[in-house]
Amino acid sequence: MKIDIISVVPALLESPFTHSILKRANDKGLFEVNIINLRDFAINKHNQVDDYQYGGGAGMVLMCEPLAKAIEHLQQTTTYDEIIYMTPDGERFNQQTANRLSLKENLLIICGHYKGIDERIRQLYITMEISIGDYVLSGGELAAAVVADAIGRLIPGVLNNETSALFDSFQDNLLAPPVYTRPADFRGLQVPEILLQGDPKKVDDWRHEQALNRTQERRPDLLEREYEGQ
Ligand code: ADE
Repeated sequence: MKIDIISVVPALLESPFTHSILKRANDKGLFEVNIINLRDFAINKHNQVDDYQYGGGAGMVLMCEPLAKAIEHLQQTTTYDEIIYMTPDGERFNQQTANRLSLKENLLIICGHYKGIDERIRQLYITMEISIGDYVLSGGELAAAVVADAIGRLIPGVLNNETSALFDSFQDNLLAPPVYTRPADFRGLQVPEILLQGDPKKVDDWRHEQALNRTQERRPDLLEREYEGQ
């Protein structure tokens, strides 16, 4: 899978994909992320990509032309399954959306900055708008990194143990159960006996029960969703 990300501050996106799991995914040829600098498509020699908003008001808006040029340039070589705009007024991102997007071949993500992007770009090109939560970031870059990370780790072969994403929090609308590693006794706190006994069926049952309890305690809304069959 390939994710292209258009940004006016590409440096904000350099690090997340060059370490750890997502770097290995890239090295294995499973997951490619390309950062495109919007300024490469600026309309004039001042490298201009933003302008004042019509009607007045504080904050600059990313202009139509550079964004249209960048998107159309990329579309010459790639057919995108979705062209996504990161924005606080988009649909709230969750694990289900990550699962769905991880099955796509090519995604294009547009990061807003300052006040956002000209509305006409949204009308003309954007097929999906995503928010990562009810708060406002200074740009879409960190949000795009969150979305790309959540998608990338779901691609088969990216995680060492392919099944491990299946047991993540939220995969069944359940939070993940507690996990332990050595030592078995840390400052008097013991690892639950069942995990030491090595009976896989009992361990599975224990984990499911713990996941249910934890979800009931912390996020009962997720259980209601499960009953609604979502
Ligand atoms: N850009 C600014 N805030 C954002 C948010 N909460 N989600 C996605 N993109 C954003």
